[in-house]
Amino acid sequence: MPWVLVRPSFRHTDHSALLLFIFSSLLLSVQTVIAQTLINGQVFSSGLAILDAPAPQSVQHAGSNMPIAIDISGDGKLSQAASIPGSGLATRFDSLEIYLVSAQSKFNVTVSNGTGLLTQESGSTVKHLNWPIPTCLPSGSYNFTLYEGSHINNQGFFSITPILITIQNTAVSGDCTNDTNAYLGQPQESSPPPQNPFLPSLSPPITVTIGPSGIIFPSQSTVTVTAPPSTVTVVMVSIGTTTFTSTLPGQTEIITSV
Ligand SMILES: *[C@@H]1O[C@H](CO)[C@@H](O)[C@H](O)[C@H]1NC(C)=O
Ligand SMILES: *[C@@H]1O[C@H](CO)[C@@H](O)[C@H](O)[C@H]1NC(C)=O
Ligand SMILES: *[C@@H]1O[C@H](CO)[C@@H](O)[C@H](O)[C@H]1NC(C)=O
Ligand SMILES: *[C@@H]1O[C@H](CO)[C@@H](O)[C@H](O)[C@H]1NC(C)=O
Repeated sequence: MPWVLVRPSFRHTDHSALLLFIFSSLLLSVQTVIAQTLINGQVFSSGLAILDAPAPQSVQHAGSNMPIAIDISGDGKLSQAASIPGSGLATRFDSLEIYLVSAQSKFNVTVSNGTGLLTQESGSTVKHLNWPIPTCLPSGSYNFTLYEGSHINNQGFFSITPILITIQNTAVSGDCTNDTNAYLGQPQESSPPPQNPFLPSLSPPITVTIGPSGIIFPSQSTVTVTAPPSTVTVVMVSIGTTTFTSTLPGQTEIITSV
């Protein structure tokens, strides 16, 4: 992943150019819907789930098993009972299904449907599947997609979280009839909460101002931007401490070094 790191010793012109870049990134990203946030390798869905595996952008192989691990405890903040559909608790899972879908190949394959995933491994805060990737799927990009019905403080939500992965298949074989559903297109209608309630709190965003003499440098030491596909991230910096926040579409990763 490419990084842009700005050090305080850069000349002003460098800063201006970079901030222009940041600013245009901000403009371009306005329509980017943040459906998921990546922190320390975990994907916080746009509902209640936290995905430990598969990793976004990972390459998977048809014919092999894909390990799947989903934390349904909100990183330990949600009781076990709240993960069982029908609990009636104020903050709870109602459903959690997974489909592997692709705009490219127009496939929509069931990974886990019904209440099976939430009710298996009773007592475990992480639900696991070792899903055999069908050999009928052609190579390409796929969204490993979580569909979550949930309540947060008694308010109902429906969240869809696509995690982009690559599937490689050098020997397509068999038909995909068994677990294949109609491909309905993406993105689909959803009504997610503003964010996953278990997200660790992030530093507040900062405003970049354009004044008569150009871009005015923000006074805070950290700039966080959301980048459109394939652009990079930015971030700033204080002497002694370097904090950078990288933002890919739909993901945020925070790395702090001192
Ligand atoms: C993944 O989901 C996003 C958002 O819905 C969509 O724009 C993209 O086309 C999907 N990619 C694939 C490979 O299905
Ligand atoms: C589809 O399901 C049938 C019955 O369970 C099974 O015999 C067959 O092997 C499956 N086909 C594939 C391609 O998975
Ligand atoms: C789960 O998916 C299978 C295969 O697509 C389908 O036969 C079954 O009816 C589905 N079950 C539920 C509860 O949706
Ligand atoms: C995939 O199939 C499931 C089950 O029919 C459906 O709920 C879901 O909306 C479908 N997703 C796409 C992208 O077609």
